[in-house]
Amino acid sequence: MEIRVENEGAESYEEVMLIYASALKQISTKLTVLNDEFQLVHRYNPIEHIKSRVKSSPSIVKKLKRHGYESTLANMVKYVDDIAGIRVICSFRSDIYRIADMISSQDDIKVLAIKDYIEKPKDSGYESYHMLVMIPVYLSDRIIDTKVEIQIRTIAMDFWASLEHKIQYKFPGEVPAGFSEELLECARMVSELDTRMMLLNNEIQELV
Ligand code: GTP
Ligand code: MG
Repeated sequence: MEIRVENEGAESYEEVMLIYASALKQISTKLTVLNDEFQLVHRYNPIEHIKSRVKSSPSIVKKLKRHGYESTLANMVKYVDDIAGIRVICSFRSDIYRIADMISSQDDIKVLAIKDYIEKPKDSGYESYHMLVMIPVYLSDRIIDTKVEIQIRTIAMDFWASLEHKIQYKFPGEVPAGFSEELLECARMVSELDTRMMLLNNEIQELV
């Protein structure tokens, strides 16, 4: 274990990770409930699928190092916001905002930050809606407010992001300019495809 626990009596790394995993389960369940309810009422599933993961210890250490922090348990809880991460894949852009609204309006969830990379995509072309939320996890003797990073995107945005991630992984630091340009062009196509599919779906919804 590379993460140092500072004082006696503090929670162990395993205990902290269990709390993050529990927070993920709670958010996951909330999303599934919303999806099921939507299916029942509107005969329509806003969520295609959900992926979640707890960040690995080497990735936590790497991130702390990148930000100039020592690898302690206190630092990881304080500075690493995406230890618990969940990705929600939707069909249409409108579903993203619908889900984000439903999540933000729940009383036990506190929204700490929002990054709307759909309204304002990254220079790379990356599009997604990111929410950093806090949810209480109930243990036997205490309640721990826990951060979860939620990324909400369409299938097309996810398709783009996974290829772009693979390319970045292959060329750490500097992606050849030709690839970056092609990715940017693909991102424009993804955005146009999302718009056209959403409009088409709206028309269909009005007919049925
Ligand atoms: P991190 O240090 O990575 O957390 O960046 P940040 O704190 O600026 O947060 P941001 O919301 O920009 O990104 C968080 C996560 O979004 C990343 O860990 C990726 O999963 C995803 N992400 C952000 N930008 C990109 C991108 O350009 N390409 C891909 N494929 N994923 C991205
Ligand atoms: Mg981040």
